[in-house]
Amino acid sequence: MSNSNDLTLNILLCVTGGIAAYKSADIIRRLQEHGAVVRVVMTESAEQFIGKVTLQALSGHPVYQNMFISDGRVMEHIDLARWADKILLAPATANTISKLANGQADDMISTLCLAADCTVYVAPSMNHAMWDNLATQNNIETLRARGIKIISPDSGDQACGETGEGRLKETGALVAELLTDSTILAGKKVVITAGPTREAIDPVRYISNHSSGKMGYALAQQARLAGAKVHVISGPSNLPQPAGIYFKNVTSANEMQDAVLEQVNDADIFISAAAVADYRPAEYIDNKIKKSSDTLEIKLIKNPDILANVSSKSNAPFCVGFAAETQNLEENARIKLTNKNLDMIVANYVGTSSSGNDIGFNSDKNSVTILTKTNTVNFPEASKNQLAKQIINLIAENYEKKHSS
Ligand code: PMT
Repeated sequence: MSNSNDLTLNILLCVTGGIAAYKSADIIRRLQEHGAVVRVVMTESAEQFIGKVTLQALSGHPVYQNMFISDGRVMEHIDLARWADKILLAPATANTISKLANGQADDMISTLCLAADCTVYVAPSMNHAMWDNLATQNNIETLRARGIKIISPDSGDQACGETGEGRLKETGALVAELLTDSTILAGKKVVITAGPTREAIDPVRYISNHSSGKMGYALAQQARLAGAKVHVISGPSNLPQPAGIYFKNVTSANEMQDAVLEQVNDADIFISAAAVADYRPAEYIDNKIKKSSDTLEIKLIKNPDILANVSSKSNAPFCVGFAAETQNLEENARIKLTNKNLDMIVANYVGTSSSGNDIGFNSDKNSVTILTKTNTVNFPEASKNQLAKQIINLIAENYEKKHSS
């Protein structure tokens, strides 16, 4: 996976030669709407059904086809396989499925699938008799047994005039299946706060912190990949907002609290990853403060504790806090777990890690210790995206435990 340090989802779309190849244009668009970056590889026979230029224009990248004619890079198939977070073969013909099942590597697609270390998704499309044929069904079973995900075809009228199972899955459903890694949070509403808050002093100045939103946005993306309906309440952040997630932009802690309280009543899980300013100026000065004296005192008053206010509700969702600490990490986090009556807290060391990286605020990496009332789990330094996946898995596990006991 090449993008372990950012939050973009890289999808390598492999188009093979069937009539449904024209649908690959729509697949690219839909994936882009979900914030994915799409690159395309196509077989020569796919080009009989859709033009390379179309897929190049839509994806915004060159379309790869021939192992030996490239932009001068000899190991393009390996580079592409490493770049991808997910590889999607759509449409996948009976011939390509057979090649994959037999471990053949005689063109760009079959070769890069052999070299892939990410999940490969195969969306078959063919005549219903070809689909039903035992040879194809055996090949599909072989691929499933190897961990390749099969996006099953639909039934209905076929391009050949016959009717049956074998049509490429409808694009919306296909993309939804591709973008769902698991169903551990299927049907759950997850509300997440992310980023900093800004507390205005006057029209041009504010108090804030270095939170970028990366951790909260990564959690949102992973919660969605786990099947949840996700609402993010975000403080000011420069990050792109992936589609498929509901975003509400706010500025101050008070605005963040209002937005959270609007969403949280029917939520199953609340994750408070935002770095909310603990204090705000007691008074907002209507005009820019002039530099008239050597010192300036600004009186601060406490902001609401959003997380504590949510966890104390009678219908509180499963509450997960974060604790950004520079010292006594576990001890301080455990105090917050208890005082704020949380189900779980993610203790987040902020500063320079043992490997010399800046972690926590505004970095792509993090290292956390997760505490529940009975357990402590350490997650060593990794990208925020990778950690978010582990955190979401643990949240889902503990949510299930709480609701089954
Ligand atoms: O955004 P990034 O650049 O990716 O950085 C990620 C992060 C370091 C900001 C994130 O991982 C993190 O640790 N967020 C919580 C930071 C924080 O405010 O910690 P705290 O210990 O001050 O607060 C404890 C918990 O109470 C947090 O869940 C916080 O969201 C919540 N809180 C705090 C104060 C307040 N007034 N209201 C709150 O809800």
